[in-house]
Amino acid sequence: MPNAAPSRPVPVWDLPIRLFHWALAAMFVALWISGRMGKLDLHMTIGAAVLTLLLFRLAWGVLGSPTARFATFVGGPRRIAAYLRGEWSGLGHNPLGALSVLAMLGLLLLQAGSGLFATDDIATDGPLAWLVSSKATKQLSALHRLGSWAALGLVALHLAAIAFYRIKTGENLVRPMIVGTKPATDEAPSQRLASPWLALALLAAAAALVFGGLAAWGR
Ligand code: HEM
Repeated sequence: MPNAAPSRPVPVWDLPIRLFHWALAAMFVALWISGRMGKLDLHMTIGAAVLTLLLFRLAWGVLGSPTARFATFVGGPRRIAAYLRGEWSGLGHNPLGALSVLAMLGLLLLQAGSGLFATDDIATDGPLAWLVSSKATKQLSALHRLGSWAALGLVALHLAAIAFYRIKTGENLVRPMIVGTKPATDEAPSQRLASPWLALALLAAAAALVFGGLAAWGR
């Protein structure tokens, strides 16, 4: 009997999402190390870069490829329940994984935002700390410190979920996040990827907003 022709892999994650993801992961590690070591100038520069990445991701969640769009993967309890009953099939984040994606993006936004107004109470203030009262600066600093542990916890959960998925279903989620594709299956529809030039324009706009804003308002 002739073997069935191998089907072409389907695109899951577009290049902008993959670059976003690995840049974010590397910067997360760099933020932790620089924060712990008290290298706060470096910490604030990387923090501004992460804020840029996150603003880009928000825009890409509206204008990007289907698997990048929030409207595709964010679902209510009914969609999550259907997934838990084994009735979900699709490309990209499943409805449960989507919750952890939202939690990570939201918490990292909060971290990048609170860092702008934080202080170490010694010599370094966040670039926008001068805009708020010293009481608010202290509260935002406390939130920033607490948030760093919460973010670490979420990343640990993220990695544990990927390992658990691998052990339970045998599916390798990491490879598609590197190469962008996964083997085609009957259930996995194909998708049309958004233009990487659009991603570049959105990233440039996000960088202009963050770094331009800090140049104008930061101290
Ligand atoms: C260290 C910090 C990390 C952070 C902050 C992080 C954050 C994220 C975020 C926000 C997403 C959602 C992507 C999006 O749609 O925008 C994601 C997805 C993903 N991440 Fe990470 N990540 C980290 C490390 C890693 C590492 C080390 C791996 C691999 C070992 C990994 C593997 C993946 C995979 C496979 C997905 C897609 C999951 C799925 O199929 O739904 N991540 N990550």
